[in-house]
Amino acid sequence: MKIALITGITGQDGSYLAELLLEKGYIVHGIKRRASSFNTQRIDHLYQDPHEGHVNFHLHYGDLTDSTNIIRIIQEVQPDEIYNLGAMSHVKVSFDSPEYVANVDGIGALRLLEAVRILKLENKTRIYQASTSELYGGMPENKNEKGFYDENSPFYPRSPYGVAKIYGFWITKNYREAYNMFACNGILFNHESPRRGETFVTRKITMAAAAIALGKQDCLYLGNLDAQRDWGHAKDYVKAMWLILQQEKPEDYVIATGQTTKVRDFVQMAFAHVGFHIRWEGTGVDEIGILDSIDEQRYEAATGVTLSEVEGLNVNALNVKTLNETSINAEPLTLNAERLTLNDLTPNVGDVVVRVDPRYFRPTEVDLLIGDPTKAKTQLGWEPEYDLQGLVEDMMRGDLSLLN
Ligand code: NAP
Ligand code: GDD
Repeated sequence: MKIALITGITGQDGSYLAELLLEKGYIVHGIKRRASSFNTQRIDHLYQDPHEGHVNFHLHYGDLTDSTNIIRIIQEVQPDEIYNLGAMSHVKVSFDSPEYVANVDGIGALRLLEAVRILKLENKTRIYQASTSELYGGMPENKNEKGFYDENSPFYPRSPYGVAKIYGFWITKNYREAYNMFACNGILFNHESPRRGETFVTRKITMAAAAIALGKQDCLYLGNLDAQRDWGHAKDYVKAMWLILQQEKPEDYVIATGQTTKVRDFVQMAFAHVGFHIRWEGTGVDEIGILDSIDEQRYEAATGVTLSEVEGLNVNALNVKTLNETSINAEPLTLNAERLTLNDLTPNVGDVVVRVDPRYFRPTEVDLLIGDPTKAKTQLGWEPEYDLQGLVEDMMRGDLSLLN
């Protein structure tokens, strides 16, 4: 049985990767940080009582800023594969805590590589480093002739996060070349899921679209609506991580979908899942998204709440039986002149449901990312199962059921 060690196991990717490796018969060890409240929601379903006979999922307290515990854990676990997914992964937050990010996201990678070398496991342990499309910084002149970023495109990071990750990238490559270690970078473009952290833009949008549809929130505030990202599904991307470590030779790979989409269009797609069509007006910080029309059938199918038009008014009658079943709000429905409301926030056609808040702008922005996954597809045989529409639907279903 192979043994894997995952840093960042409590995160989005760590949880999906742990599931994948357990399915493949691995013994999985994860490093989690001590927190004053529980931070294991994403992996609680994998927990096994250590008193039971055959346990193949283990957690260790640890931190990427602490070499001593990294060395001790690796010595105890003797892993065949290490996946270094631990990081302060929020680009905007990295401007607020740049030194910490350098320590965890940059030097953290070095600590793992050095630990493997100190313990003389170079010939046994393979290492995956979670590198990122943030390394490219979205510089238009650095795209390849086909208009994508690939394994040969120059880097130009645009945030303390990107700068820390570029150290992680190069130290991984350097240890591969200097010490002949099986150490690889996956240069992953943005990947999302129902388990995505709630302050990343896609999850912020799907949570808000679900909450607005169910009358629990009135407006979504966003930053740069023109930013473009190459968004895939995290479930597909952890498969690529595993494939990268199963190759004969250690190499670096771009993992991406090859398509890019504006934040504004992601908003449109998320609301479309609940039958809301958004119309955009204004520009810059004054741009607003207005609820332009509602497809009732779609709304009802997605939310389980029944709406029907009353005398030409917008969205009015709510089926109380359905409402009780879904426990959206125990309080009685409120009838006002125009509509029945859930929490008094049920949106009407004409309501402003998206606004721009400059607080979410970044000091330096990555305007556009689009990756070329040709090498991964041809050499690894990697094929994603989800397209963007499938991703949005998965996230919206997840958030609607969470709120219900
Ligand atoms: P995530 O959900 O933010 O998870 C990050 C994980 O790192 C969490 O388990 C977190 O623990 C842990 N962590 C944070 N600081 C740590 C420290 N000092 N020591 C040990 N662990 C620490 O991120 P993700 O989306 O799963 O991404 C996984 C990795 O891929 C990250 O390195 C990220 O930078 C990189 N990446 C992500 C994407 C993407 O689009 N998702 C794209 C390219 C690269 P807590 O739960 O305790 O916070
Ligand atoms: N978070 C956030 N919140 N981003 C917003 C908002 C908002 O309200 N409004 C617009 N955006 C824009 C950001 O300015 C950025 O251009 C884009 O949406 C995506 O932001 P995030 O979802 O925060 O992700 P990211 O691209 O900055 O970083 C993610 O992907 C990287 C790979 O390219 C993270 O997962 C990184 O860890 C990862 O390396």
